[in-house]
Amino acid sequence: MPRHLLSLQDFSKEELTGFVERALQLKKEQKQGVAHRQLAGRTIGLVFEKPSTRTRVSFEAAMYGLGGQVIFLSARDTQLARSEPLKDMARVMSRYVDGMVVRTFGQEVVDELAAYATVPVINALTDLHHPCQILSDIMTVREKKGDLQNLKIAWVGDGNNMANSWIQAAGKFGFELVLACPEGYEPNPDILERSRSEAISSITLVRDPAHAVAGADVINVDVWASMGQEEQQAERLKVFSNYQVNRRLLANAPDDCIVLHCLPAHREEEITDEVLESPQCVAFDQAENKMHIHKAILEKLIA
Ligand code: CP
Repeated sequence: MPRHLLSLQDFSKEELTGFVERALQLKKEQKQGVAHRQLAGRTIGLVFEKPSTRTRVSFEAAMYGLGGQVIFLSARDTQLARSEPLKDMARVMSRYVDGMVVRTFGQEVVDELAAYATVPVINALTDLHHPCQILSDIMTVREKKGDLQNLKIAWVGDGNNMANSWIQAAGKFGFELVLACPEGYEPNPDILERSRSEAISSITLVRDPAHAVAGADVINVDVWASMGQEEQQAERLKVFSNYQVNRRLLANAPDDCIVLHCLPAHREEEITDEVLESPQCVAFDQAENKMHIHKAILEKLIA
């Protein structure tokens, strides 16, 4: 049976920690010029139904960096666009490639592909989860702050797929998580309830961003309108107007607090240019770490 990465719930704390620690090791070795060939002769298929810069390029660079190869398929390139059943796609792709990395809309798409694939299926973003992104974010926090156990991490903005995966991460890793979301834009209630029942620290939902960032070691922010929500842009600009991460908000947080943004950023909407370009913001280290964490994931699931 292949091991799939559909959400962070699929792995234990020890396994998730293993991804992060291995990625840190692979990053160090790459900087030292160590050549990796663990996936020589292996091929992954990237099936992306939504645009991507970082996730696509970092998965491709990771696979090539481990000696493997990549086939990229956009939505219009496959028969999925002409309604070929997912269960057929999964079984056919499994005959050609050693793993599938999928970016799509509904979580049910990756769930169904995984149910029929005989190779690992990796979720590269759905409307419900973004697990690989959160692993690279956790890696970045681990690099900057050390042990995760006693940290307070704040989420400011939409209770979206990123927020859902951060909630699952809190349930597994044991850090305190406080999410500030406007009414009607809360994270998935089932994910919140399950992770709260497993967590050793608190996972709290508040309305006031200043409350969320008080005493926080890490502040997370993401765009206010995700892919597929473009028609809600004007409404969301109004709803989230008090949730911008700016100098005024950061005045409520400790001076050594770091700011994470998974990018792409909409400057002067969810984050000011001043904060994004400041030393406090580690968004570009985060972006680099996507490649290292993807190496660790591919190595574990495919090699
Ligand atoms: N953060 C992230 O997923 O970026 P892309 O959409 O560019 O892959």
